[in-house]
Amino acid sequence: MKAEILVIGALGNVGCEVVKELQAKGISVRAADLFPEKINERFGAGVEAVGFDFAKPETYQAAFHGIKKMFLLRPPQITDIQKMMVPALEAAKAAGVIHIVFLSLIGIESNTVVPHYKVELWLRASGLSYTFLRASFFMQNLNTVHRAEIRDLDIIEVPVGSAKTSFLDTRDIGAVAAVALTETGHENQAYDLTGSEALDYYQVAEQFSEVLGRKITYTNPSPIKFFIRLVQRGTKIIFAVIQTWLYNNTRKGMADTVTGEVKRLLGRDPIKLKQYIEDYKLNWKKD
Ligand SMILES: NC(=O)c1ccc[n+]([C@@H]2O[C@H](COP(=O)([O-])OP(=O)(O)OC[C@H]3O[C@@H](n4cnc5c(N)ncnc54)[C@H](OP(=O)(O)O)[C@@H]3O)[C@@H](O)[C@H]2O)c1
Repeated sequence: MKAEILVIGALGNVGCEVVKELQAKGISVRAADLFPEKINERFGAGVEAVGFDFAKPETYQAAFHGIKKMFLLRPPQITDIQKMMVPALEAAKAAGVIHIVFLSLIGIESNTVVPHYKVELWLRASGLSYTFLRASFFMQNLNTVHRAEIRDLDIIEVPVGSAKTSFLDTRDIGAVAAVALTETGHENQAYDLTGSEALDYYQVAEQFSEVLGRKITYTNPSPIKFFIRLVQRGTKIIFAVIQTWLYNNTRKGMADTVTGEVKRLLGRDPIKLKQYIEDYKLNWKKD
């Protein structure tokens, strides 16, 4: 059957989990990303692979044709929503898309400077139905952004003092997105998605040490030291500023909210950090 559900960013952290969840439910899915040739490699031939780039209007037709519902995210590189995302959203609407499940940020109501806020505003005014998945900090940042420092230096370098974070596994976001894309009752809803526990980075390092069988230390640098370290390692200044700013919010205690939304929506507990470290431990194996 031709797919009526489209997943944008299908090769990314969250998009790939959305595709896997839909596949597991036996639902036809079209998966879109910058490099379509990698999509069937990742998910097998059963998934419709399509090249899609927000910056290239010529890719919109193939992506949106015949689609009713879509999973949308804002790729981290995109900051100008009006210029870079709205044309694609308008094309999706014109092509017949009726419902959009958008990956947003927890706390966005009081954080209106982030680009996601503009996407939410556009969707609210669009006449389309929407579900906002307002996610807390991903566990998977620890095997992407922080992978090398944990694997090679046995440290976790985050400038947040002893503030806590309600880490969320992207596999849980994928599962919630699949529910919102395939069941009714999620129209025009916003869900604050978090894990089931808020942990400080001393506890995170302890759990890493237990599972990996070697000592992992939380270094707790000051924000300025963290920023300088990022730039020294080659991070572009703008991204170093954004990362330091995001962690500053965590440092101020703004990332520790725990909600019961994942359990309510999935009927099971969210994945715990310990389980995540077990499942991903090869990522931090020394060569
Ligand atoms: N990290 C967190 O803790 C956290 C928490 C809450 C919400 N969020 C939000 O989650 C979103 C990121 O999700 P993610 O981690 O799944 O992202 P991701 O892993 O970076 O995936 C984004 C995908 O989109 C692709 N892409 C990049 N530019 C594109 C373009 N112009 N057109 C179409 N596709 C493009 C990327 O390809 P390439 O990889 O080839 O560039 C990638 O495959 C962000 O909006 C972020 O703010 C993050």
